[in-house]
Amino acid sequence: MTHSSIPFIDLVAQQGKIRTNLEKAILKVLDHGQYIMGPEIEELEKALGDFCGAKHVISCSNGTDALAMGLMAYGIGPGDAIFVPSFTFAATAEVVAWCGATPIFIDSLDTTFNMDPKSLEAGIQKAKKEGLSPKGIVPVDLFGLPADYDAILPIAEQNNLWVMCDAAQSFGASYKGKKNWNNW
Ligand SMILES: Cc1ncc(COP(=O)(O)O)c(C=O)c1O
Repeated sequence: MTHSSIPFIDLVAQQGKIRTNLEKAILKVLDHGQYIMGPEIEELEKALGDFCGAKHVISCSNGTDALAMGLMAYGIGPGDAIFVPSFTFAATAEVVAWCGATPIFIDSLDTTFNMDPKSLEAGIQKAKKEGLSPKGIVPVDLFGLPADYDAILPIAEQNNLWVMCDAAQSFGASYKGKKNWNNW
């Protein structure tokens, strides 16, 4: 019996659909020679902002850097506690440690696999008991499904915490009909 294997992620098929445009775009960059901060950056940021309704877009090389940039902007460091879901891609917690702060893992719901708001309260108390200073929550919209912000945001407000979504898996997803979480 013969069988053919089906690739988990078929990048060849994916590339086939955009190959002509891809080659054209690469040649354009080679022609103008602006490899860093060239006109394509502005074009991309504008298109992304238009797509999700964000006023400001800052592009960077990958999702890990995007998260780190956010944490750096909040100025977190040693002694700070950041609440992250227990089930996510490693980068969500990795960047917290990278900035010198402590990731506190919050249980995930068995229905959506996203952060369990009930466990969040317990995590905040745990961090305080350990002498850490709770600063922010990083919910993850896993597999494109937004976390339960209706439950998470009031907890954040009561505890004076900021909320920064890890939307690496959910760009284009919508929550209550909106693609841009900042427009709640
Ligand atoms: C939820 C989540 N956060 C962050 C990242 C990090 O993104 P990157 O691999 O582009 O650094 C990923 C990547 O898969 C992710 O799934």
